[in-house]
Amino acid sequence: MLFENLKPQVINILKKEDKSVTDRLNMICQLLKDSIDYYDWVGFYFKNGDKEELKLSTYVGEKTDHEIIPFGKGICGQVAVSNENFIVPDVQAQDNYIACSFTVKSEIVIPLFKNKENIGQIDIDSETPDPFTEKDERFLEFVNQEVAKIL
Ligand code: SME
Repeated sequence: MLFENLKPQVINILKKEDKSVTDRLNMICQLLKDSIDYYDWVGFYFKNGDKEELKLSTYVGEKTDHEIIPFGKGICGQVAVSNENFIVPDVQAQDNYIACSFTVKSEIVIPLFKNKENIGQIDIDSETPDPFTEKDERFLEFVNQEVAKIL
């Protein structure tokens, strides 16, 4: 099972204390994008200090102009205020959506909690329509829980 095989690899990356947190997060993005064929863009956004906005941390995939996202805007901004996972099977069916690339068909955003506070999220774009399931949710929740330990 792919996700089960990836979990120890995620833990191994996060253990690399000789690397910066950002480098380790980037390695996780790379691992996920390389291992899961429908993960085409993988990145982490975090709350930008005291501001009611998200700031893009590290990512793997096509360059994006959306480095800052106000709370409430787009899928990411909605997750910043809802604290809930958000699966979008078809991005074109969403009113409150920020398009990064015309090739993106679907998206999943999972909030990242540190001491029960929503401090950021992992965001994944896919060029495949409707690929995300509860298995992605559980796996990405695991990734975020492990990442929170080094933040
Ligand atoms: N589509 C996101 C914006 C971020 S990009 O996917 C990198 C959104 O609607 O919030």
